[in-house]
Amino acid sequence: MKPHKHRQDTEAVRGGTDLSKKNGPLSTPIYQTSTFEVTDNEQQLRATPTDMFYTRYGNPTNTVAEKRIAELEGVDAALLFASGMGAITTSVLALLKSGDHIVAQRDIYGGATKFLTQWLPKLGIETTLVDTVEYDQHARAIRPNTRMLYLESPTNPTLRVVDLRKVAALARQHNLITLIDSTFATPINARPAEFGIDLVMHSGTKYFGGHSDLICGAVAGRADLIHEIHSTRTTLGGVMDPHAAWLLLRGIKTLAVRVQRQNLNALRIAQFLARHPKVKRVHYPFLEGHPQHALALEQMQGGGGVLSFEVDGSGDDARKLSEALHLFTLAPSLGGVDSLVCIPVLTSHAMISADQRQKMGITEQLIRISVGIENADDLIADLEQALAVVSSARQHAEVG
Ligand SMILES: Cc1ncc(COP(=O)(O)O)c(C=O)c1O
Repeated sequence: MKPHKHRQDTEAVRGGTDLSKKNGPLSTPIYQTSTFEVTDNEQQLRATPTDMFYTRYGNPTNTVAEKRIAELEGVDAALLFASGMGAITTSVLALLKSGDHIVAQRDIYGGATKFLTQWLPKLGIETTLVDTVEYDQHARAIRPNTRMLYLESPTNPTLRVVDLRKVAALARQHNLITLIDSTFATPINARPAEFGIDLVMHSGTKYFGGHSDLICGAVAGRADLIHEIHSTRTTLGGVMDPHAAWLLLRGIKTLAVRVQRQNLNALRIAQFLARHPKVKRVHYPFLEGHPQHALALEQMQGGGGVLSFEVDGSGDDARKLSEALHLFTLAPSLGGVDSLVCIPVLTSHAMISADQRQKMGITEQLIRISVGIENADDLIADLEQALAVVSSARQHAEVG
């Protein structure tokens, strides 16, 4: 693993840029071009493997963002994609072939579940879903043709935390590639490569962008794997536009301060909800009583800005509550400066079967909130007034 040159909050602002003294723009220029001019065909050949050949292969604005993400994760290299799903699908298709097998946690983003269980079988790649935190199940599911452990931590939307040391050791023992969706953690709260994970994926749409104004994906990790994925990205074509990559760079500059504030806000809200008589259960890794609380404290610097909770009522109560909120905007997505609310059965996990959702603990009463950087007291007051729409009441919530 490549050692960090600086701490994460410094890399967020300066990562990927040249720190030597020179005359030039402070802000990375946007190379808004599809192609690059050369003087002769000799130079054309030399340009082909660089980021100044053709933008589907690479682009200098994107390169700065890719280097910054690699430095934040403490790995060799990173790649940007048109979306988080683009990062997942391209990486898996780059590294696996027909006849291969994947072991994946059951609790993962619904779009990833759909790709693994409904789409990959068409190409002869099978996936076995296992209980996220039952590592014996992970081990038992490994077959001679298994190539990858597909992971996500904390999970969407029930915030389970995966023991990264354990899964990395299991992968080493069986010579498997580990790919983790670390969108919920961000490199500010966890750096999976430090625990031996090979590839770290992000929906950059979320915390990296941070302002709910762009769509992007990223994969960071070992140079040999990134090289394979780059070649597949060029073929499949799911690259990020340089203009959006510039917005991403601007977003990442404030990643550390945003996430630190979101950690504080979300913890206070989780504590408030856990005490509320109309809340049945709260899922937040930094809340005492969470089943992986000790592991979360060991592996993570903060619990992140997302939490979910079940109202003590019906699915209809959950819907009404989400509509009664004013400061939490009813919209899918997460990780931005504006607080959002959504009902996972209608959004992030609408595309998977009710049976799968039930196994993942995603009920109709579950509400997911993404806590922004507004004032925590205002956010709590908003939740307090909206909880009035739920008719039942109990003594205190369960955590986990
Ligand atoms: C945890 C997680 N991973 C991946 C994705 C997919 O990312 P994108 O929407 O950028 O394709 C999402 C989107 O909600 C997500 O929440």
